[in-house]
Amino acid sequence: MAILDKHKILETNATLLLIFSFLVVTVGGIVQIAPLFWLENTIEEVEGMRPYTPLEMAGRNIYIREGCYVCHSQMIRPMRDEVERYGHYSLAAESMYDHPFQWGSKRTGPDLARVGGRYSDEWHVDHLRDPQSVVPESVMPKYGFLENRMIDGKYIADILKTNRLVGVPYTDEMLENAQADFAAQADPDSDYDGLLERYGEESVTVRNFDAQPGISEADALIAYLQMLGTLVDFSTFTPDASR
Ligand code: HEC
Repeated sequence: MAILDKHKILETNATLLLIFSFLVVTVGGIVQIAPLFWLENTIEEVEGMRPYTPLEMAGRNIYIREGCYVCHSQMIRPMRDEVERYGHYSLAAESMYDHPFQWGSKRTGPDLARVGGRYSDEWHVDHLRDPQSVVPESVMPKYGFLENRMIDGKYIADILKTNRLVGVPYTDEMLENAQADFAAQADPDSDYDGLLERYGEESVTVRNFDAQPGISEADALIAYLQMLGTLVDFSTFTPDASR
């Protein structure tokens, strides 16, 4: 009997077909799902990833509050046009501390996964204040009010604590110093050694981001934007093929 004839038995008997389909799906399901019970983590660890600093975290919350994700994605797909435009495709590890993630699928504006360091702080201030002043055809709304809204990081320790609850490895020391670290990052005249020690000298930028006295929501948002996509050093990164 040719193999097709054998298969015909299955195809013409609904009960048999159901039983065999069930078997196939079961085996396939076990092969795919079972290993996940033994793996601690399915995300490849990548050097450079660290929890967000308190100021960056505050900026991230403003980003979410203002709905920037409605027009901007934060995931560079591994396709040539995207990589040429935005840089190295996004790694899973790069959003491992994002709760919730900001991948998105709507791009009225460009992807922001690697916007960090692409423009100066002044550019961001001008662009937030009046996007059309730097990109005349822009349809992005104005966010100038952010630089007039002062923030003091009163609740930032609670926000970090909440993130720790869902798995972001903030240490007790980071929580204790959250408000001080928050203020230090926006003030280059402050004592920010502790901040650098806790989060990493290489990857934390201390600046007066909006160039105005005091800490505004614009400071936090720009600190966040300037960090995006800069934590992993892609000149030394090699994908781990063993995983
Ligand atoms: C209505 C859609 C819309 C919203 C909402 C929006 N943007 Fe934009 N954004 C755009 C468009 C369109 C561009 C491209 C033109 C330009 O640069 O202004 C852009 C550009 C940008 C750029 C420059 C990116 C690059 O690579 O050149 C940044 C940074 C940015 N937006 C940040 C933000 C932030 C932060 C928010 C929230 C506070 C936000 N956007 C909200 C539409 C939007």
